Amino acid sequence: MSLISDQLIPWQKKFGRNNFPWQETKNPYLIWISEVMLQQTQVKTVLPYYRKFITTFPNVKSLALADDDDVMKLWSGLGYYARARNLHESAKIIHSKFQDKFPTKLIDLLSLPGIGRSTAGAICSLALNQKTPILDGNVKRVFTRLYGIKDWAGVISVEKKLWAMAEKNLPESKFGNYNQALMDLGATICVKKEPMCSKCPINNSCKSFLHKWTNIIPASKPKKEKLTEVSYFYIVQSKSKFLFIKKPKKGIWGGLWSFLESKEELDIKQWVLNNLEVSGFRLLQNGVMTSVFTHYKLKMYYQHIKVKDLKSKEDFPGGAWHDKNRIEEGAYPAPVKKILKKLMQDGTAL
Ligand code: ADE
Repeated sequence: MSLISDQLIPWQKKFGRNNFPWQETKNPYLIWISEVMLQQTQVKTVLPYYRKFITTFPNVKSLALADDDDVMKLWSGLGYYARARNLHESAKIIHSKFQDKFPTKLIDLLSLPGIGRSTAGAICSLALNQKTPILDGNVKRVFTRLYGIKDWAGVISVEKKLWAMAEKNLPESKFGNYNQALMDLGATICVKKEPMCSKCPINNSCKSFLHKWTNIIPASKPKKEKLTEVSYFYIVQSKSKFLFIKKPKKGIWGGLWSFLESKEELDIKQWVLNNLEVSGFRLLQNGVMTSVFTHYKLKMYYQHIKVKDLKSKEDFPGGAWHDKNRIEEGAYPAPVKKILKKLMQDGTAL
């Protein structure tokens, strides 16, 4: 056994996080779902999504056979929607190529969309007790501090070094417990700001603790000012129904339902006349909301228009009329729900 695992495994048992629902199982499918949800998202946000998702899709076959829209609905509000699309895609591959048997080899897992080295390592170690390292954000912080690495961990050469360290420190048994300990240490003790080094079970091996470098390690990502993009959104309402357009699979909010959108400002009255059969319309409120994404900000100008006597409620090409009372649960981006909520609160969407 390596030295740090000697300390970490007993520490995790006593002080680690041991009550999450995905820790009650060794089912690799369920652990996969939790690991994907936990990428870039905090545990407390994930918990209700995880419970609902696995109740609806309790096994890989049910997910593989699910409707795209139903999968996206359960992800609505969790963000980073490519994760849900990849999850669904991977389930279909497991269904067709692996006869619904969840792959148990690291190399097979790595061949699936959305499963990188760390997620594959987590599934193999936590569910199957295989000797595989992990290196998510929390664990990177632990290793950069432990070895006193002052460069930013996003640089390929640094990341390579970190993987080598993660590999080298693996114990000879209890791989799942060890990896859980690393994650727990990163999430609860070796936190970014003001780590609790006095409570750390491996502080006497930690270069950053010994040299008082914990405030400069890990190095922050070099900052780039986020660019702002602008889009115009048109909220077309007919009685209690709203017009939604399904976003293309690639790009932001792929697969979710959003408002009619244009990069250029539209003459919405003209648009309505050209595209819908109505006897009249009323322009209601205008507003603006900014959404922040990983690489840019989106300034969303929106305009709400109510149409009168819409002749055909048939689905619009690429779009559909959805009732306002069914929107809370559906596959819509969070900012779209937020704007609708505001319109309802303001009374214009009644
Ligand atoms: N973050 C990523 N994987 C996790 C896990 N298994 N438990 C808690 N936090 C995590």
